[in-house]
Amino acid sequence: MSITVLLGAQWGDEGKGRITDALAADADVVARFNGGDNAGHSITIGTQVVKLHLIPSGIFRPEILNVVGNGVVFNPRNFLKEMAEVVAVGVTISPDNLKISEGAHVILPGHVALDVARESTSKGIGTTKRGIGFAYMDKAKREGIRAGMMHDPERFGDAVHAHTEDVNATLKRVGQPVLDADALAAEYVQAAEQLKPFLANTFAVMHRALAQNKRVLAEGAQAVLLDIDHGTYPYVTSSNATIGGVMTGLGVPPQAITRVVGVAKAFSTRVGAGPFVTELFEDMALRLRGTGANPWDEYGSTTGRPRRVGWLDSVALRYAVQLNGITELALTKLDILSGLPELKIATAYEVNAEQSNNFPQDSEVLARCQPVYETLPGWAEDVSGVRSYADLPKQAQAYVERIEALTGARVSLVSVGPEREQLIAR
Ligand code: IMP
Repeated sequence: MSITVLLGAQWGDEGKGRITDALAADADVVARFNGGDNAGHSITIGTQVVKLHLIPSGIFRPEILNVVGNGVVFNPRNFLKEMAEVVAVGVTISPDNLKISEGAHVILPGHVALDVARESTSKGIGTTKRGIGFAYMDKAKREGIRAGMMHDPERFGDAVHAHTEDVNATLKRVGQPVLDADALAAEYVQAAEQLKPFLANTFAVMHRALAQNKRVLAEGAQAVLLDIDHGTYPYVTSSNATIGGVMTGLGVPPQAITRVVGVAKAFSTRVGAGPFVTELFEDMALRLRGTGANPWDEYGSTTGRPRRVGWLDSVALRYAVQLNGITELALTKLDILSGLPELKIATAYEVNAEQSNNFPQDSEVLARCQPVYETLPGWAEDVSGVRSYADLPKQAQAYVERIEALTGARVSLVSVGPEREQLIAR
């Protein structure tokens, strides 16, 4: 039994996609356990770029079985659209290489409309407007619609109709345009017909794979600091993006997990609102964010929003390591730091005239924390062509090793560019 878990160790967008892509080379099963189509990463296939939001990243390797677990919130409309895009670049998707959990809760246009409506008010937190929180709300209220209902398309259509009418009552009350319940019901009957063959008891699928000693990669979406329980609440997503989400979102036991890889960027970024202790502004922010001209510049892959950027925060990263039992870190985008005369790492927070390296549970306290920085020398060399750790400038090695010392986790992978070969294993 072996499950490798891949988690975003900061606020998302750490470059999980490319690390998943590398780890998938050694996997038989790739399974998503949390979140929905709020996640996003781009994969280059030949000259075409495909954005995956919901389909697990193993889909580009024909021998891999891809699983959408019960902890995911599943948007049938967007899934079908994404499937068509992936098929258009020559990838085969069938019930043989993709299974959707009957237990996953469904995201409907009503959930999206409610998310959009709330984001237009002062209660908005900068969501991706994908209806994520509203679908998980229905799940927690025990009023959700699960994917398994698509086995009976007519019944599913009726449920979509009823849900839409319910939502319309709310939309009317807040002065938002209503949805066409009849048209949606008809659309979702069709969607269910198409998706029915992919539905599976993914608990059984996962346990069969484990019994056969298959290598499973549990692919996290979002990240530790966006976790509903352990993140910077309320500026979080609505699922468990941390280690517990693997067990609940796939129905697998903790003993099966043998490796936990945390993906961290060599600096920090965040999209959406919420406290960000090491945030930078003006020139240094522009320098780290990039102009948007390059695909790797810091603009959201799902929403296109410019990301907030900052120095590496070892207080938050150490918290991520402790919380998830991260056995190794993959450090991405080290190349972006080339040419900076000096680099800062936050090693503690100061609040109420006291310093601590504990990550506060209360976001209001976090918002008042000031970073205590350690300054390290930068390096001038372009590292994007470096392929072995020993060939990195000494200052870059010192930066990596300082992160290890501060967080307590080994850095086993370092990326120095977006291409597959620009990944240095240590
Ligand atoms: P939601 O998940 O759409 O409800 O958004 C809640 C918060 O999580 C917002 O701050 C989003 O920007 C953030 N978020 C959700 N998914 C991602 C992601 O894949 N990368 C980065 N941030 C995300």
